[in-house]
Amino acid sequence: MMNFRLGQIHLQSFTNQTIIPKEMPAYLHPSSVYFQKIDHPVFQDLEVYLLRMDLLDHVISGNKYFKLVAYLEDAIQKGFKQIGSFGGPFSNHLVALSKFAKLYEHEGKRFEACKGIVRGKLKKNHHLSKTLAECVSYEMQLRFVDHAQYDDRSYREILKAESPDVYWINEGGYGFLGAEGFRQIKPWIDPSFDHLLCASGTGTTAAGLLKVAMPHQKVHAFSIVGGHLGLRSEIEQLLSPQEQDRKQQLETYLGFEFGGYAKRDPQLIEWINRFWDQHQLPTDFIYTAKLIVAMLKLAQQGHFQKNQKLLALHTGGIQGNRSIEQMLHFKYADYDQRSTNESKK
Ligand SMILES: Cc1ncc(COP(=O)(O)O)c(C=O)c1O
Repeated sequence: MMNFRLGQIHLQSFTNQTIIPKEMPAYLHPSSVYFQKIDHPVFQDLEVYLLRMDLLDHVISGNKYFKLVAYLEDAIQKGFKQIGSFGGPFSNHLVALSKFAKLYEHEGKRFEACKGIVRGKLKKNHHLSKTLAECVSYEMQLRFVDHAQYDDRSYREILKAESPDVYWINEGGYGFLGAEGFRQIKPWIDPSFDHLLCASGTGTTAAGLLKVAMPHQKVHAFSIVGGHLGLRSEIEQLLSPQEQDRKQQLETYLGFEFGGYAKRDPQLIEWINRFWDQHQLPTDFIYTAKLIVAMLKLAQQGHFQKNQKLLALHTGGIQGNRSIEQMLHFKYADYDQRSTNESKK
């Protein structure tokens, strides 16, 4: 287990810099997104900012709009009226898709149905998770599949063949179009930043960052999935032939997984609570908390040069904390309220 101590962290925003990506739909709140400065003794020779993309929307939160937008547009342009994807019972991706597909409109065209294939059968007399209940509230049609079948790649191919009217998005939104959507974050990627950092599941967000990075900017992708040895090549595969030289700007990291994907590591949960108590900054236990802890560790090891400027993405995911809400000092509902207030400041 990592040995680090967290001192007092002072956070201060410079909200007077409002940068709004143009293409975003009116139901998102890009003007709420701001750069939150993280001051910490370990970062004393650096300037470290967190891009609060979680404030875009509490459901289509963080990286989700960017990861989904090009798929939805592609689906509509190809004439699909149904869209679907895959995920677990607390999937940020599925719930974001359910809301986005319901609200999405392109040149007067909309989706008629949105389908969610869920990993794991719903047990008799068990309730839907809060995430899935929210998916249903956005009219997503759920189908539960047992773990073995879900994990069997051939099942997805069969499903796709059986439902040619549905535009299927890969689990977690992995794919070229997923990364392409991040071109819209370009206005937030100021050239003054030396390092761009994000937590990585499928690596799509990191690939998107590489697409918009300036040649002098390094992209750091931290795997949150234990033993994800293929992360680097999966990110690289999302670059076009013209973007291949950008591979040199990429660094990937294993070792900050805290036991692996969605594991409830007690030290990490304690860290999240302390961070919240001190700063009212919500982090999720699967992605962003691990990212910040990893940055602290790297800075402590002198990984970055003096006076360099870092930008880390808050990719959202707070709704996923509902699976461990009883262990946390903040609730998703409070956070939602808070984020709404914050955006009004
Ligand atoms: C909140 C959050 N952060 C980060 C990620 C990782 O993104 P990616 O799969 O693009 O690497 C995900 C997964 O989509 C996520 O839900």
